[in-house]
Amino acid sequence: MSKIELKHIDKYYGKNHILKDINLTIEDGDFMTLLGPSGCGKTTTLRVVSGLEKPQNGFIYMNGKEIVNAAEAHFEPPAARGLNLVFQSYALWPHMTVYENVAFGLKIKKTPKDEIDRRVASALDRMQIGQYAQRYPTELSGGQQQRVAIARAIVSEPSLLLFDEPLSNLDAKLRVDMRSELKRLHKETGSTIIYVTHDQIEALTMSTKIAIFFEGVLVQVAPPLELYNNPADLRVADFIGNPRINFIDGKGKLDGKDLVVKTVDGETFRFASENLVEGFRPSGEFDAVIGVRPEQVTIHRTRKHDTDVAAKVYTVMPAGSETIVDVMVGKTRITIKELGITHYEHDDIVYLELNPQKMNVFDKASKKLVKYAVVD
Ligand SMILES: Nc1ncnc2c1ncn2[C@@H]1O[C@H](COP(=O)(O)OP(=O)(O)O)[C@@H](O)[C@H]1O
Ligand SMILES: [Mg+2]
Repeated sequence: MSKIELKHIDKYYGKNHILKDINLTIEDGDFMTLLGPSGCGKTTTLRVVSGLEKPQNGFIYMNGKEIVNAAEAHFEPPAARGLNLVFQSYALWPHMTVYENVAFGLKIKKTPKDEIDRRVASALDRMQIGQYAQRYPTELSGGQQQRVAIARAIVSEPSLLLFDEPLSNLDAKLRVDMRSELKRLHKETGSTIIYVTHDQIEALTMSTKIAIFFEGVLVQVAPPLELYNNPADLRVADFIGNPRINFIDGKGKLDGKDLVVKTVDGETFRFASENLVEGFRPSGEFDAVIGVRPEQVTIHRTRKHDTDVAAKVYTVMPAGSETIVDVMVGKTRITIKELGITHYEHDDIVYLELNPQKMNVFDKASKKLVKYAVVD
């Protein structure tokens, strides 16, 4: 059992307010990823949870038990919190072989030798480093050392694992393999995992939930697809997804109960009232930003519907299994992702089928989502 609750956590380094009133619950069995750009406070959050840093305000509960109460200066020491950490800088014991590094914790617990052998072999295999068992850390590359550090953390199948960018030193192919291994490990062991990364693909592919931070503020906590389909604000929308979401500026206002947005390029979109965020009641006209994911646009060579939008092809980028097509609608560039390989010439005139149901609308001033995309 590992449930962790952070309540009203503030962390300062000197005068710098690094974590701003963080409230986050990690349920038992979650694969919770802390995501956000460099410097947003992910590592600091992990260090606060693990007890390496003391927050100035707030509470942390582990399985309902108070482990931090800043006002009363109560901070359980890291060792008493029963967690396993893998930091970006992996400290392996240099005088021990890979096998000994990974086996160490099990030996301390007086695990029988044959069980240690079996579990170490399994952890090393999972990390694809079985062949290096008898080497010393100095005889390994950075990426191999990083995988030993992961093996050392997972070998005892702890109920709570904390990872700080554990795949950062691996090359692209290995990183993809390791994602799959960590995801499977999570399913097989039922461990609770808190995982820090700035890589949105890593977060989307592995997590059960993502907590996304900007400048020390926790902006949204949601399952990956929810975050992708309905980002809470413009920053989340822009950070998640590759190719990036398209933003189209316009002026919005209510028409009856519906929202109508007229874009800078003169197109008008109508959004049904049932998809508007509750409580959204603009009094007059407001600056709106429409968000459209690249895969939500269909390109036609001839006009298929009255509502199709004429566009001019800017560039075409075939990428093997898909084609990325950039087009201009007036002065706005739109990126479209088509499955398979499609052919267009620069400056071809095409027609875009856009589905308002699939769009997000944001209020430019508050940056907040005001209209949900409908998910099939
Ligand atoms: N020990 C420290 N002393 C002072 N400032 C720090 C310290 N650790 C981190 N910071 C600052 O706190 C902010 C958040 O850092 P960090 O949590 O490491 O970000 P992330 O892991 O999201 O990249 C950064 O601005 C960083 O410079
Ligand atoms: Mg960090």
